Amino acid sequence: MALPVKLDSTSRTLADLGVSLPDRITALFADLRAEFDREAVGVRDESSWRVFRDAWLGRKSGVLTRVSDNWLKPATPALKRAVGAALNELRAHVEATVQARRTALDDLAAQVAAGRDRVDLSLPGVHRPVGSAHLITQTFREIERIFLSLGYSVVEGPEIETPYYNFEALNIPEHHPARDTMDTFYIAPPPVGAAPPGLLLRTHTSPMQIHTMETQQPPVRIIVPGKVYRRDNPDATHSFMFHQIEGLAVDTDITFCDFKGTIDYLVKQFFGPTVRTRLRPSYFPFTEPSAEVDASCTACDGAGCRVCKFSGWIELFGAGMVDPAVYGFVNYDAKRLSGFAFGLGIDRFAMLKYGMHDIQVLFQNDARFLRQFR
Ligand code: DAH
Repeated sequence: MALPVKLDSTSRTLADLGVSLPDRITALFADLRAEFDREAVGVRDESSWRVFRDAWLGRKSGVLTRVSDNWLKPATPALKRAVGAALNELRAHVEATVQARRTALDDLAAQVAAGRDRVDLSLPGVHRPVGSAHLITQTFREIERIFLSLGYSVVEGPEIETPYYNFEALNIPEHHPARDTMDTFYIAPPPVGAAPPGLLLRTHTSPMQIHTMETQQPPVRIIVPGKVYRRDNPDATHSFMFHQIEGLAVDTDITFCDFKGTIDYLVKQFFGPTVRTRLRPSYFPFTEPSAEVDASCTACDGAGCRVCKFSGWIELFGAGMVDPAVYGFVNYDAKRLSGFAFGLGIDRFAMLKYGMHDIQVLFQNDARFLRQFR
């Protein structure tokens, strides 16, 4: 704070100021006090308060020190009493005011802080929505539970496969027409010179039948949930990526009855106890005999409707007894062993159960759709 012109008077003696009578003392001190009060009003924060305090109370060169040094000490005996009394009075006022300004600033700061840190318990809480498993995941889990209760194990396998596991070892040789229905995405071969890896995205979960039998001796009872890929254009019933669960049971005495009973149990557990199943002859290179598993229509209970195209039945999935040729690829004894296998589409199961007509809604991540299945 620059020294105001008025206060220049405190740098000079009373004699220099031409003051020789006590009544001029009162006016001099009144001027000082007025200047002090004016400055006190300007103190708005801690740093200006410090400057203000030092300007008036600083021991070495504060206004009060200068008054004491320049006015009081050299004063004539006739003025000394009056100057001393006025200085004491001014000092009391200055000290009290400086302290009061500080208290006021502290109170203000405390108020500001209190306002800033205040917690309003009447405000509504922060809503943190809890997510839930996607319908596909839920359907996987539901079917896994059914098979776990039958003593099956859940295994998973790679989505990138070699043609051997995806086709050859499943008794689908190169140029076999079954490959046409399973066109897939091939992973680009490396630059010329390196050996072509022949990698592809698996078209079904069936390769895990081979991986499992290569590494495990019978009895085998597994299911394989996972993603599969086909080079299909997306529409209401096709997607280039969808989901399957493969099943495989191999042992020394597994019969077609075991196969039928297991399939029927699965369908009744998943779709409801009143749903009936039937098997239709079919063809898969890795099963013999092969079957399509149909269920009585979940929409009309077999009476016939648009969903089942008025046949009363809905095609569910493919299955069959493991073709002995497959055992040859994994060094299993085809004379001693038998088994069944099946491969079902999870997306299809979910769509049938919940009456959906477009597979694409499962992959669009529209929360309004997904929320229905929490
Ligand atoms: N892998 C076949 C597909 O994706 C489905 C299938 C049919 C799997 C019969 C099987 C089976 O295990 O026995 O079209």
